Amino acid sequence: MTIEILPTGAALGAEVRGLDISKPLSEADVAALKEAWADHIVLLFRGQKLTDDDLIRFSRHFGELDIAPASATDYAGAQEKSRPEIWIISNVVENGRPIGALGDKEAEWHTDMSYVDEPPMASVLHSLEIPDHGGDTSFANMYKAYEALPADLKQAIEGRFANHDSSTTSVGELRAGAGAVLDVRTAPGAKHPMVRTHPVTGGKALYLGRRLNAYVEGMKLEESERLLDALWAHCAKPEFSWTHQWRVGDLLIWDNRCAIHRRDAFDGKQRRVMHRTQIKGDSPR
Ligand code: SIN
Repeated sequence: MTIEILPTGAALGAEVRGLDISKPLSEADVAALKEAWADHIVLLFRGQKLTDDDLIRFSRHFGELDIAPASATDYAGAQEKSRPEIWIISNVVENGRPIGALGDKEAEWHTDMSYVDEPPMASVLHSLEIPDHGGDTSFANMYKAYEALPADLKQAIEGRFANHDSSTTSVGELRAGAGAVLDVRTAPGAKHPMVRTHPVTGGKALYLGRRLNAYVEGMKLEESERLLDALWAHCAKPEFSWTHQWRVGDLLIWDNRCAIHRRDAFDGKQRRVMHRTQIKGDSPR
């Protein structure tokens, strides 16, 4: 069966049809997927029945895997699991303990694990159980956001680095062992250029991590806050984004080097269970 690539028609994203990714992929299939991924940033595969080992094997076609991030609510964390590459995202509580991270709250715009020196280049998310409504995941194209930046904002971030806070998750919860940030200028995390060049496509993309506790290095606090507010208001414009409404068996792979994402809240009485892997990246430059 030949692979079909159907662009969403929005600023990013395409559906891939004609591939059962639980089966070994040919070199030609992998090459076609990598090309489509470079063009569309997020790829969607529907109706995939995958074990965790299938998910890991598929993800490895794109690179070496990172272990899952530490999170205060992820009690099914690396130590307790046989597959430390798998991060469970879920609101389900079993025997009084959450089986995964992020609960049912909104996850604000962010790029995954940008608080480390070498953040994962990609994340792969597979849906096992989803609520009737809510929990949609949106993506925004950071090449397009950079291209469309007003000249004064482009100039303001030229050559600048920002600190990407490591203390909180994308739903604003403190990670295990982290203390509350009282001054963003001294927040823990990693410093990255605010504009990065994609190592495969050569495109320039805004690289902001997340808004909470961010700080533009070397700026006065008020100046940094103003600039970050303006940049985030720009990135969140609908013309840069696409929203995915999940079905069971959907798998998305996205490129953290040139996209941000967010997740809607959902009814906490309904179950949402997703398994994610992270593909190692390099130091943004
Ligand atoms: C994430 O990877 O940030 C969570 C996305 C989701 O739960 O849909």
